[in-house]
Amino acid sequence: MSDFKFLLFEKQDAVGVLRINRPEVLNALDRSVLAELDCFLDELEADNAVRVLVITGSGKAFVAGADIAAMSRMSPLEGREFSRYGQKVFDRIENLAIPVIAAVNGYALGGGCELAMACDLRWAGEKAKLGQPEVGLGITPGFAGTQRLPRICGPAVAKEMIYSGAVIDSQKALEIGLVSRVLSQDNLMEEVLKFARQIAAQSPVAVALAKAAINKGFDSNFQTGSKYEAEVFALAMSHPQCKEGMSAFLEKRKPDWKNE
Ligand code: COA
Repeated sequence: MSDFKFLLFEKQDAVGVLRINRPEVLNALDRSVLAELDCFLDELEADNAVRVLVITGSGKAFVAGADIAAMSRMSPLEGREFSRYGQKVFDRIENLAIPVIAAVNGYALGGGCELAMACDLRWAGEKAKLGQPEVGLGITPGFAGTQRLPRICGPAVAKEMIYSGAVIDSQKALEIGLVSRVLSQDNLMEEVLKFARQIAAQSPVAVALAKAAINKGFDSNFQTGSKYEAEVFALAMSHPQCKEGMSAFLEKRKPDWKNE
């Protein structure tokens, strides 16, 4: 893995931990950070030893948003390009073959909340704060927050949050389904890693196909999603990991998935 200026990456067996590391501005995302993320994803996709990715932030923030100082200097056309680039990078995270867990350790505002929403699931520390405060700056969410928040929490809750710019605590985020678990700050990473290891112990091919089926279903209707599910079910059965998983069960041993 390359040395990045704003990203720290470490592998713990099959779990990769990515830390957005620009703590002096609460890990705010400017174009350079997005470009590093884009490049990191290229390298991650080439490394099939990593079966689950955890994203978190350095210091007291997860990510406090897109970089406001950088945006204040952008023309509208540059703003559109910035928005499209952020959307593209976050789409790549959403569509990674492996599951991605956001360990929301602190502020996840604006682009930070959007980054967390591009992950498969979000677990938060009790001190985390989440929100889409862009309208208070005279802009709208620009990294697909207007699209993902209504899909995750429903349109009424998303509109409440986006129109008001409200910043909510992790307990409220749990109530509205924006995060699926709240943990003490001290236990957050440990619990996330434990869960990531549990995922990593499953068939990577089956997990990837399940992820693809869930994502496909969200982007289409029930019938199309179900049809796709039957296709990935058959595809899973055609893979050696299916034979291995079922043989291991019948032979009362642990499966060995290999990195196929
Ligand atoms: N973009 C650029 N810089 C940011 C930033 C962002 N989104 N969020 C924080 N920073 C910078 C601050 O300007 C400050 O820099 P400075 O030390 O040079 O003054 C530094 O990070 C620390 O932030 P500070 O505001 O002093 O910390 P705090 O604990 O008092 O407040 C927040 C934390 C998150 C409440 C506050 O920083 C904030 O409201 N940030 C912007 C959130 C936002 O609107 N995000 C959406 C952007 S689209």
